Amino acid sequence: MSEMLKHAKKNGYAVGAFNIVNYLTAEAVIKASEEMRSPLIIQTSTSTVKQFGIKPLIDMLKPMAQTSKVPVAIHLDHCTDIEMVYKCIDAGWSSVMIDASKESFEDNMKKTLDVVKYASSKDVSVEGELGAIVGVEDEIHVKEKDSMLADPVKSVQYVKETGIHAFAPAIGTAHGLYKGEPKIDFDRFKLIADTCGCPLVIHGGTGLAKDVFKKLIMLGAAKINISTAIKIAYCRGMGEYSAEHADENNPLKLDRFVLGKVKDAAVEHIKTFGAEGRI
Ligand code: 13P
Repeated sequence: MSEMLKHAKKNGYAVGAFNIVNYLTAEAVIKASEEMRSPLIIQTSTSTVKQFGIKPLIDMLKPMAQTSKVPVAIHLDHCTDIEMVYKCIDAGWSSVMIDASKESFEDNMKKTLDVVKYASSKDVSVEGELGAIVGVEDEIHVKEKDSMLADPVKSVQYVKETGIHAFAPAIGTAHGLYKGEPKIDFDRFKLIADTCGCPLVIHGGTGLAKDVFKKLIMLGAAKINISTAIKIAYCRGMGEYSAEHADENNPLKLDRFVLGKVKDAAVEHIKTFGAEGRI
């Protein structure tokens, strides 16, 4: 993932990091990336890992990534459990996010550094977070009153001293659907991008306007996370097909329809991120 993000940052685009929940959604985002000739980050949230089990999930995803026509990184999203992070590194994830952002700055630094040390011996990239991103992502719930933007000075210290490969500073984006206009602190983001020197990650991508994505990429965003939009395309696709084909009892037909909807959602984001034709 680190190499992908360095290339994206240098060339002014962002790699889409899509949260998948099963084979169908993984296949859909791979097909979208192949069609777009763009690199891809497949993300697994911890609840997906728990639902499948570590080995069954990586045994399913790794051959898909290896046989894809475009480079695919397999990334563990928002993991607060350091033991689970180590297990996923050992199992074959190519990148992990240790999320110790709810802990004190010192504890976050220590945990992140421990993961970077462990991951570097296995050539695995690490993403870390500072501040608290509002909303619900998987098992992590942050209320508006507890949200906290990343401190630019601490951001430099965190990135430099931990040696992470991707940095997710909280800048006002939110997981899930936005209630009203998102309040994004672009000045803070620019300052962090200019001083940290590390590819930056945008969490809470679903629902941001195209010009917001473009501005964030111009300022230094190299990885953009999209989860809710994929889940919405999946669930709505199921509902739409079932409503129109009440007597259909061939799940393969339903799957093809839903796959198309999820693929379309991914394609739209890849185009917006300027990642089309990069491979
Ligand atoms: P959304 O669900 O808002 O797209 O956020 C995804 C995310 O940031 C995953 O870490």
